[in-house]
Amino acid sequence: MRISVIGCGYLGAVHAAAMTQLGHDVVGVDIDEAKVEALAAGRAPFYEPGLSDLLTGALTTGRLRFTTDLAEIAGARVHFVCVGTPQKRGEFAADLKYVDAAFAAVLPHLSDGDLLVGKSTVPVGTAERLAVDLTGSGATLVWNPEFLREGLAVQDTLHPNRLVYGVPAGMPGENATAVLNEVYAAPLADGVPLVVTDYATAELVKVAANSFLATKISFINAMAELCEATGADVTGLAEAIGYDERIGRKFLNAGLGFGGGCLPKDIRAFMARAGELGVDQALSFLREVDSINMRRRVRMVDLAREVCNGSIVGRRIAVLGAAFKPNSDDVRDSPALSVAAQMQLQGAHVVVTDPQAIDNARLKWPDLTFAETAQDAATGADVVLLATEWEQYRELDPVQLATVVREKRILDGRNVLDPEAWRAAGWTYRALGRR
Ligand code: UDX
Repeated sequence: MRISVIGCGYLGAVHAAAMTQLGHDVVGVDIDEAKVEALAAGRAPFYEPGLSDLLTGALTTGRLRFTTDLAEIAGARVHFVCVGTPQKRGEFAADLKYVDAAFAAVLPHLSDGDLLVGKSTVPVGTAERLAVDLTGSGATLVWNPEFLREGLAVQDTLHPNRLVYGVPAGMPGENATAVLNEVYAAPLADGVPLVVTDYATAELVKVAANSFLATKISFINAMAELCEATGADVTGLAEAIGYDERIGRKFLNAGLGFGGGCLPKDIRAFMARAGELGVDQALSFLREVDSINMRRRVRMVDLAREVCNGSIVGRRIAVLGAAFKPNSDDVRDSPALSVAAQMQLQGAHVVVTDPQAIDNARLKWPDLTFAETAQDAATGADVVLLATEWEQYRELDPVQLATVVREKRILDGRNVLDPEAWRAAGWTYRALGRR
């Protein structure tokens, strides 16, 4: 199948390479020349485990190319739109300017029988609106939301846990389903579940899933607040309730909460859309989910102040992690960076380290100090804060690290360290939601 992928960011770059791996002939298009150049040379323009190998493998088949020239999508039968939908400045709503621009630009290049497939996360009702613009083009619009997780994007794209097609009614929908089934023949043959539905449901599936995940995280973080007030332990609580299969242990890790380019802006855009639809009450709980999440960051700064006997002014604080999650260099709405910046603004001397995200973090917060390693960051520190649970930080040796810090105070922002081991090495260990 000849495929085009419009927008080669975290989603599109992986999708283009994965589609090639699945046997298709793919052209990836992006307006960013540097990105296109890197991708064409087999270099991932951002850190994503496995992407470079996938790209190089795909490029050597001769069936994958990247370009800035949108006209090169002509000849492809299926066009995936993978552009971003960030939060609007000063508003909760999603900014659809990239989606609208991509659709307008693609339209003149479509042929009769083409399939235009939206993968971007959009407010419900967007597909129906865009489908009207396609009238007369002979092309059909499908909404096919993407559920990939950063850090696991390659695996999630090649082996998704489900496929969702939002299609129009009648024959156009049936034809579109048949074409997409060809595109996804390999995962479907592996038994990946498929849900074929209407546009609105497909759009809602994505934001509903992300809202559920955000709610689960904020639920356990709310429990962490209760644990702090009562002397209980949130990690034991999560373990115990997680044994109930109806609840499940996944996504019950209390700590600094959720960030990134998806969960925070998706729940806000969802609330904004509900307001437009006159059903804002249905999602008013998401406001609380958002508040609980943001409170974690404030609480962590308070905890740092607490262990420093009331003031962080002039204290050296090492922050381990800048990315919003491990195995990513993405710092969009990163809880780690947000806490680091707050502490710096409140007078601490903050030194941030991260295995992959220092360059991105420096662009966002040039006033912070950056160190290459945890060891360098922690040297002379009054407090060490583990903010992103990279494997190398989880495995830090408390005995060794004690030799470089000024004061042995560790804040475990992700509840991943062994408190006993750290205390045994003489550290003051504190975490959110634990004694
Ligand atoms: C998310 C969805 O998981 C994915 O399906 C969707 O396609 C895009 O949004 P992603 O943003 O890559 O993916 O990260 P995810 O693994 O969901 O983590 C989001 C945030 O929640 C991170 O900051 C993470 O640290 C935090 N988190 C996750 C917790 O605080 N506790 C948990 O138990 C799990």
